[in-house]
Parts: sequence; structure tokens; C-alpha cells
Amino acid sequence: MEDFKAMVKLERVIKETMRLYPSVSGITRTLKEPLYLSKYTILPNTTMIVFPHMLHRDQNTYPNPKEFDPDRFLPEQCAERHPYAYLIFSAGPRNCIGRKFAMYQMKAALSTILRYMSVETLGTQQDIVISTKLILRADNLPSLKLNQLKTTEI
Ligand code: HEM
Repeated sequence: MEDFKAMVKLERVIKETMRLYPSVSGITRTLKEPLYLSKYTILPNTTMIVFPHMLHRDQNTYPNPKEFDPDRFLPEQCAERHPYAYLIFSAGPRNCIGRKFAMYQMKAALSTILRYMSVETLGTQQDIVISTKLILRADNLPSLKLNQLKTTEI
């Protein structure tokens, strides 16, 4: 657990990756009461869909939104954002109960690979093609070159 907590840079990389590519691209809620949004009144029983994918690419909240910059998740930068500006695990009373476990799993998997392998991409962000089939799917990804590190480098 102490190791997981110490992986602060890896956590920023994971969060920035999931900002650009949130696994759950749509979160639905049915209104129990009217919702007043700007000049609009949305009636009860309406099903609302929040799209984290679009929210996370909002220029006002994330300047240069397509740029991959893990430092957006430095504590001082997060403090300036609305708590609901980042919704990879949803928010509110029905948010993801597995979020901490999921983050530990991702850190465990990635740190294990990085401890034994050097990873090089053979493409660019432009090669990433995504689609939504309930959750986000990668239709195309750049190839990765993995090289086992020599024992002296580990
Ligand atoms: C990277 C991995 C994961 C992502 C991105 C993720 C994302 C989400 C999101 C966005 C929701 C909310 C859906 C909504 O509001 O309609 C959710 C709900 C939920 N997640 Fe996860 N999740 C992940 C991993 C896990 C894991 C590992 C578990 C269990 C060990 C888990 C258990 C749940 C449960 C039970 C709910 C429903 C909570 C409720 O409705 O009260 N999730 N998840």
C-alpha cells in the first residue's frame, strides 16, 4: 500500500490517459425533479446523459485539451478545477465503488511492466481510433515495442 501511495507520477499519467480516454463515455441519470440549466427547464422523468469524453476535452477547463499533460493532475492544478470536471469514476452517491481498487490494479499492472521492460511507441496519438460500445473501445492503437531490461537496469 505504501508503494501504491508513492506512485504519484504514475497516478498522474493514468489520470491524464483516462481524461482523454474515459472507459465509461456516458453516464445516465433520470431526473426526479425539474432541472434549471441556464435558460432551459428540463422536466422530471427526462433521462440525462453526461459525456465525460466531451467534458474532459472542454477547452475552458483543460487548455489545449488534446495535449497529453499529466501535470494537469498536480494537486495545485486539481484544486482550481470544479470537482465534477473530471468524471472517470462518475460522481455523487452512485459513483464507482471500485475506484480505489481499480487505481491500485492499474498501478500494479503498469509498474510491474515498467520494472522489467522499456516501452517505446511506434506511432502517435493520431493512430488511436476509439469507438463507444457501451464502454470505450480501441479500434486501433499504435504498436508498442517492449524490450526486457537487463538485470543491472532493474
Ligand atoms: C478503471 C476501472 C473502472 C472504471 C473506469 C469504472 C467506472 C465506473 C463508473 C463511471 C461508474 C458509474 C456509472 C454511473 O454513474 O452510472 C461505475 C460504477 C460502479 N463501479 Fe466502476 N469502474 C472501474 C472499476 C471498477 C471495479 C474494479 C469495481 C469493483 C471491484 C467497480 C464497481 C462498480 C460498481 C459496483 C458500480 C455501481 C455503483 C452504484 O451504482 O452505486 N468498478 N464505475
